[in-house]
Amino acid sequence: MLVAGNWKMNKNIKETILFFKKFNKLLKTKNKIVLFPSFPCIFVARNSASKTISIGAQNVFFEEKGEFTGEVSCSQLKPFCDFVILGHSDRRHKFFESNQLINKKIKKAFESKFKVILCVGETLKEKNKNKTNSVISNQLKQSLSKIKFTKNLFIAYEPVWAIGTGKNANIKDITKAHSFIQKTLVSLFGKKAEKTQILYGGSVKPENMKEIFSIPKVSGVLVGGASLNPKTFAKIANFK
Ligand code: PGA
Repeated sequence: MLVAGNWKMNKNIKETILFFKKFNKLLKTKNKIVLFPSFPCIFVARNSASKTISIGAQNVFFEEKGEFTGEVSCSQLKPFCDFVILGHSDRRHKFFESNQLINKKIKKAFESKFKVILCVGETLKEKNKNKTNSVISNQLKQSLSKIKFTKNLFIAYEPVWAIGTGKNANIKDITKAHSFIQKTLVSLFGKKAEKTQILYGGSVKPENMKEIFSIPKVSGVLVGGASLNPKTFAKIANFK
């Protein structure tokens, strides 16, 4: 299982050090753990986290260097990070990132040998209009256009209405969405894409993790709010 924690725009340097001081001691698992601090805390996170923990970035730009105020490049992140999240719903809906932009970022991230967690998922309005599959299909096809398949691709199914709301999707909806994602990946890349790890994200917490991990098509979780507290996140990370 891959257990990923997305801190979003939370925690400063002091809080990052404190988190790992506690979390390192609580972590007892064979699961793969990756934490995504915000940019200023990445360096200190890498130095404070146990070596078995991976560190990732919440976003990256597709150019290498130059006049791109406010952006961060793959080569700037590479010494500290092996993962990057792309297409998170915050980026899509609050910063209006298009599938075309996400596609450029994924290409560059793969060139730079990052593992990419590509997030997809429908809004409540789209869910109510039965558009979940068409939304996911568009996001996958367009974000992955002209990209060669690699095992460094991970998908996170994150229904937008479940993020930060305390309401997770139910077993049936997660199973359906994960099967559909798998089918779409196979149609894009062939049978080799069948084993792509598909994570679930959206209000994952210790109270619902058993149910979510028990779904056969779920190969990990992307956790937001519940990854901020070392004890809470350790409970999820240590799941057997
Ligand atoms: P949440 O966030 O666990 O707080 O719902 C998940 C995410 O945004 O990845």
